[in-house]
Amino acid sequence: MALLRLRNTKGPNAAEIERKIKRGNALRQGSSWRGSRGLLALLLVALCVSTVAAWLYLASLDGDITETLASQREMILPQPRVYSVQCSEDYENYKRYPGCTPQKCGRAVTDGVVTSEEAQALRRLAERGLALAGSEGGVNISHTQILIPRKLKSLFTCSINTKKKVVMKTYFGEQIADVFTEEDFKLYRDVRGRIQAVIAETFGLDRTLMYLTKPTFFSRINSTAAKTQHDEYWHPHIDKETYGSFDYTSLLYLSDYGSDFTGGRFVFMDQNGNRTVEPRAGRVSFFSSGSENLHRVEKVSWGIRYAITVSFTCNPSHAISDPSLP
Ligand SMILES: *[C@@H]1O[C@H](CO)[C@@H](O)[C@H](O)[C@H]1NC(C)=O
Ligand SMILES: *[C@@H]1O[C@H](CO)[C@@H](O)[C@H](O)[C@H]1NC(C)=O
Ligand SMILES: *[C@@H]1O[C@H](CO)[C@@H](O)[C@H](O)[C@H]1NC(C)=O
Repeated sequence: MALLRLRNTKGPNAAEIERKIKRGNALRQGSSWRGSRGLLALLLVALCVSTVAAWLYLASLDGDITETLASQREMILPQPRVYSVQCSEDYENYKRYPGCTPQKCGRAVTDGVVTSEEAQALRRLAERGLALAGSEGGVNISHTQILIPRKLKSLFTCSINTKKKVVMKTYFGEQIADVFTEEDFKLYRDVRGRIQAVIAETFGLDRTLMYLTKPTFFSRINSTAAKTQHDEYWHPHIDKETYGSFDYTSLLYLSDYGSDFTGGRFVFMDQNGNRTVEPRAGRVSFFSSGSENLHRVEKVSWGIRYAITVSFTCNPSHAISDPSLP
C-alpha cells in the first residue's frame, strides 16, 4: 500500500520535487553551522554510546532474559550441551549416596541418544496406550499420563499436579498384552539404559548406583483448557519437592515443537531469566532434580505434545525394576 502511494506521487511533479530537495541539501551544506557539525556528530555519538551502555546496564540489573538452550531446528550431537548451575541445598535433607547424590548440578540436552525411528516407535506406543485409556471414556483433560508401574499388570492413566499425585482413572489388566509387546518393553529398557548412561557420564556418577524410580510415565498434552486443578501442568515446580525420591529427571520428547504442536516449550526458571528447551522428537533433556532446576512447561496452544519422563534416584529403597509383561 505504501509502495503504491509512493509510486503514484512519481507523476509529473517528481522531477520538480527532486530538484527542490537537492537545492535544500545544497543550502544546508553551505550554511554557517558547518563548523559545529563535527562537534554535533561527536555529541550524537557520545549520546548513542551512553544510551546503549545504560540500556545494557539496566538489562543486566533486570536480568529479564529468555535464552534458548536448545532450539528445535538444531541437532545437538554427539556430545550433550551442558549448562551447569550450582546445586541447591535440597539434597542435604536426604541421605547422601556417594557416587550418585548430586555434587555437580545442571541441565543438559542431547539429540545423540535416541534415534528418530525409536522416538517414532515410542510415540506409537504412547498413542496406543492412551487410546486404550481413552476408550474407557474417563480421560477428559489436556494432560494425560500413563504411569509405567513395576510390573505391567496394570496401567493407570492419571493426572499429576505439582504438589500431589492424583490417579484419575482407568485400570487395565488383560488388555495390556494387546497393546504392548515384549519388543516395546525391550525398546523402553534400551532407551532408559542409554539415558542413564549419559546422565552418569555428564554428572560424573557411577551408573550402577543410580536406580530407575517412579513415577515414570508417558505424557500427552493438548490445548484443551484445564478441567481440574490437577490438570494444570504449566505451574512452576521442583521435582525433588514433588517427588522426594528423584535425584535426576530426564525427559524424552516424542514430537516436534513448531510442527506437531506450538507452545509447550520446557522452561527452566532462573533468578536472572528463563531458559527454554524446544522439544524435538528423540531429544533427551536431563537435569538434577533439586530447586536449582525450578521449571515449568508452557501451555500447549495447538497440536499434541508427547513425552516420556524417566527419573532416577540414588536411594536403592526407591528403586523400581524395568517394566515388563507379567
Ligand atoms: C469433560 O469435562 C466436561 C467439563 O468438566 C464435562 O462437561 C464433560 O461431560 C466431560 N466429558 C467426559 C467424557 O467425561
Ligand atoms: C485433548 O485431549 C482430550 C483427551 O483425550 C480430548 O477430550 C480433547 O478433545 C482434546 N482436545 C483437542 C483440542 O484436541
Ligand atoms: C520468566 O517467565 C515467567 C513467566 O513464565 C515470567 O513471569 C518471569 O518474569 C520470567 N522471568 C524473567 C526473569 O524473565
